[in-house]
Amino acid sequence: MNEKPILAAKRLTKIYGKKSLEVKALDGVNLEINRGESMAIIGKSGSGKSTLMHILAFLDTPTSGVIEINGKNATKLKTRQVNRLRNRRFGFVFQQFFMNARDTVLNNVMLPLKIAGIRKSERKRRAMEVLEIVELTDKAKTRANDLSGGQKQRVCIARALVNNPAVIFADEPTGNLDSVTGAAVENLLFKLNKEKGITLIIVTHDADLAARCDRQIYLKDGKIIKSPVSSGVKTVSPPGKRGVKKGGRI
Ligand SMILES: Nc1ncnc2c1ncn2[C@@H]1O[C@H](COP(=O)(O)OP(=O)(O)OP(=O)(O)O)[C@@H](O)[C@H]1O
Ligand SMILES: [Mg+2]
Repeated sequence: MNEKPILAAKRLTKIYGKKSLEVKALDGVNLEINRGESMAIIGKSGSGKSTLMHILAFLDTPTSGVIEINGKNATKLKTRQVNRLRNRRFGFVFQQFFMNARDTVLNNVMLPLKIAGIRKSERKRRAMEVLEIVELTDKAKTRANDLSGGQKQRVCIARALVNNPAVIFADEPTGNLDSVTGAAVENLLFKLNKEKGITLIIVTHDADLAARCDRQIYLKDGKIIKSPVSSGVKTVSPPGKRGVKKGGRI
């Protein structure tokens, strides 16, 4: 197979602050992520995990270096193109991105579709469909604030899914959950990876969750210090073998 990586980072650096306050959060990161792969980003607090994930997801820009999507340099895209790409092709499960607490579960899940300009009846149909996947149809009319932690996290997953994304980015998706609820959220993410072929990029401190991913990269002081070779040699079985359906194309 000669498929280009869905996402690649080349010589990425990110420097926050100026002069004596300068922090080199990423220091020459090279990385390739294949379509349908699940990858864990691990490392100590402050090692650059969230920074790397935000840059890969176009939520932040690197100080230098390039991000490629399907082999094409994406750093040249216009803001509007980047916003469109993010809205249509990426899903996010971030704790700090939590939804509008006073709005209903349904409205929160429909939001990405509203941004994408999809009409209301279709928005509702698709939102109910993903709420069914996360087993929360009965909470559609509930205010997001009135849910348990695990239910909130499942709403986040539903919202991440609603655009049929090619990639889901998750930053500590099970961080605040008890082990049983955490396992349910985790199983759901891997089910989506296997059955829909959605690429998963997960930042986690949880060794078990990291071990479930096809690949783990370890960050230390903004550098990848350990990662199996990716380019050329796929670390995942080809989609056919694992029964993976093709995810949406970027
Ligand atoms: N907006 C910012 N301004 C200045 N420095 C920042 C900013 N965001 C992150 N940093 C610094 O960059 C480094 C990497 O931060 P990052 O948030 O990527 O770490 P992390 O690995 O996600 O940590 P954690 O596990 O605690 O979430 C840290 O030293 C942090 O203090
Ligand atoms: Mg972080």
